[in-house]
Amino acid sequence: MHIGNVRIDSPFLLAPLAGVSDSPFRQLAREQGAAAVYTEMVSADGLARGNRATLEYCAFEPQERPIGIQLFGSDPGIMAEATRVLCDLPAERRPDLIDINMGCPVRKVVNRAAGAALLTRPERMNAIVRGMVAASTVPVTAKIRIGWDEGSRNVVEVARLLEDAGAQAVAIHARTRVERFEGPAHWEMIAAARAAVSVPVIGNGDVRNAEDARRMLETTGCDAVMLGRAAFGDPWVFRRLRAFHERGERLAPPTARERLEAGIRHLAMVTAAAGEQVAAREMRKHVAWYVKGLPRSARVREQVNRTRSVAEMDELLRRYLGELEREGLAAFAPEGGPDTDAESEDLIAAG
Ligand SMILES: Cc1cc2nc3c(=O)[nH]c(=O)nc-3n(C[C@H](O)[C@H](O)[C@H](O)COP(=O)(O)O)c2cc1C
Repeated sequence: MHIGNVRIDSPFLLAPLAGVSDSPFRQLAREQGAAAVYTEMVSADGLARGNRATLEYCAFEPQERPIGIQLFGSDPGIMAEATRVLCDLPAERRPDLIDINMGCPVRKVVNRAAGAALLTRPERMNAIVRGMVAASTVPVTAKIRIGWDEGSRNVVEVARLLEDAGAQAVAIHARTRVERFEGPAHWEMIAAARAAVSVPVIGNGDVRNAEDARRMLETTGCDAVMLGRAAFGDPWVFRRLRAFHERGERLAPPTARERLEAGIRHLAMVTAAAGEQVAAREMRKHVAWYVKGLPRSARVREQVNRTRSVAEMDELLRRYLGELEREGLAAFAPEGGPDTDAESEDLIAAG
């Protein structure tokens, strides 16, 4: 698949995930075969005002490419200005894609007329995309939901509008804003949008394993599949999806040893990228996801939440791995990723 001139070499992408898809996590996902990755949503306001901390959110390593930076905002002028800021960066810091968040359901975003609130304002949406496309030297894409609520599912009209305005791909989380992260995703709406536009359509929502991914590709005709929660604590999911898609091969899920070694490395990567304090705080959730389903994981999660430094967390992970090695359980590989529905909004709101 191509998005504009950007080649995406398999159909499995890492979703934008506030509080999760930071540079270390994106690197892990790319190493395991994600074909492209997205940043967490970044404030267009902050970029347009020249806020240094906001610009830091846009930093990435070369091995993360192809990478999309996702912007959220509601003012067409500010969104265009933020796009210019990104396109004026030196080539090595310039993203491959700029994506627009038109799906975030959390109150602090929709109250500012951004995220999913844009779905109810087609003229504003049109102005934002046109302004950004005119300002951009890279393809502009959008990530939407199927509508605001059940009575206003406008995904087909919105996909057409986005294409007309110059968006070069549309990612669709197949739920309404009101549904947030709950209930089954409505994949048939992805199929309807796919039939209505000629730019690539990226399906999203409830893909947990290789079979789900195949089913989404086959039943909706979408060009690619975007994964969010299934990658939490399991960046290997991309390798499993690719093996099944390319060779019909079912790879085993990661072992306890692989998960804990990844957790230890992930901790070191976040520490190097963002410093001790951020790592000690941000890695708690990742560690909880890495240990999910392993023996005594509830106890380990509790202990992790009490750690106050990177050194303590590192020590805890190594001690736990040592215990499992001695018990002969390090090769244990539970099926199934974490179930994070209930925490999803809290995570975004905190991020
Ligand atoms: C913790 C969390 C943070 C998210 N942050 C973003 C975000 O910054 N931008 C965005 O467009 N979607 C965001 N989403 C939505 C996901 O990208 C995705 O659309 C949703 O989780 C459904 O896909 P999944 O079933 O594969 O998780 C977030 C979801 C979660 C759970």
